[in-house]
Amino acid sequence: MIQASLGSTLTQEQTKGSASSPVLQVRNLTKRFGDGCTFCEKEELEENYCPRCGSVLACSNVSFDLDKGEILGVVGESGSGKSTMVKSLYFDQQVTSGSATIANYKQGMANIFTESAQQQRYIRNYVMGMVYQNPHLGLKMDYSSSGNVAEKLIAAGHFHVGNIRERSAELLEKVEIPVSRMDELPRRFSGGMQQRVQISKALANNPPLLLLDEVTTGLDLSVQAKVLDLIRSIQRELQVAMVVVSHDLGVIRMLADRTMVMKQGKVVEQGLTDQILEDPQHPYTQLLVHSLL
Ligand SMILES: Nc1ncnc2c1ncn2[C@@H]1O[C@H](COP(=O)(O)OP(=O)(O)OP(=O)(O)O)[C@@H](O)[C@H]1O
Ligand SMILES: [Mg+2]
Ligand SMILES: [Zn+2]
Repeated sequence: MIQASLGSTLTQEQTKGSASSPVLQVRNLTKRFGDGCTFCEKEELEENYCPRCGSVLACSNVSFDLDKGEILGVVGESGSGKSTMVKSLYFDQQVTSGSATIANYKQGMANIFTESAQQQRYIRNYVMGMVYQNPHLGLKMDYSSSGNVAEKLIAAGHFHVGNIRERSAELLEKVEIPVSRMDELPRRFSGGMQQRVQISKALANNPPLLLLDEVTTGLDLSVQAKVLDLIRSIQRELQVAMVVVSHDLGVIRMLADRTMVMKQGKVVEQGLTDQILEDPQHPYTQLLVHSLL
């Protein structure tokens, strides 16, 4: 197997996390699409839309902690800001304000949102893996599946072709893509297979943190169950901390230790998943829980 950490700009000391602090700490993550105006910057909006300037406040002061090896579920209706939150954490878009720190990066002392582009690339390659809601965002459809995984390994400084192929095969096998199909294009794969290729790519450099956005949405139930099993076994085996986004409370119930409920860009409730399911406090959560029964 290939050793990670070539081509890094950080020392060992900098990437070492302290044992007790959360893997990920997010504080007041706010993302506005649009310029904003004095009204929406000062007043509490009733919805996530500014009636004066038309900006969308997709995430408004989102805060949470994620512990080592823990799965945090994020649930909420369509448009509540779930994808915006994980895309912001993965630097696909710039936040308007707020901070996030990662225990395995500069010992949790740096706000990753204000790090340089070069450092953010480092974080994407070594510290975080992402599975997009839309597989077209996460995969190059006209690269082979192994090529997609290899891209991530190369980005982390691996250049030995034989090793890269061996590690890609190993990763694809972990998500049950047969080695005989590793050279096929993901565009020829089913939706569930594409999500599994995304997962193996996200795991390529053993990151301590995975972001999974609607990983089972649109898959039929039997495939969904397999992908959920896979995620659980990855969590058990590798002790990766995960943020699992889904509009489906059933998925969250199966996976998440703790759950955060979003509505109109805001966190309306968070706590232990069991507690939220048994005794939901917010009317929106009550509605979700009752529709699950
Ligand atoms: N690039 C963008 N430009 C402008 N507005 C955007 C952009 N991306 C998202 N939004 C808006 O931000 C809000 C939150 O969208 P987001 O995709 O984060 O929701 P979501 O909770 O992931 O929904 P779904 O469950 O449908 O995936 C929506 O009102 C959306 O229209
Ligand atoms: Mg989404
Ligand atoms: Zn405004």
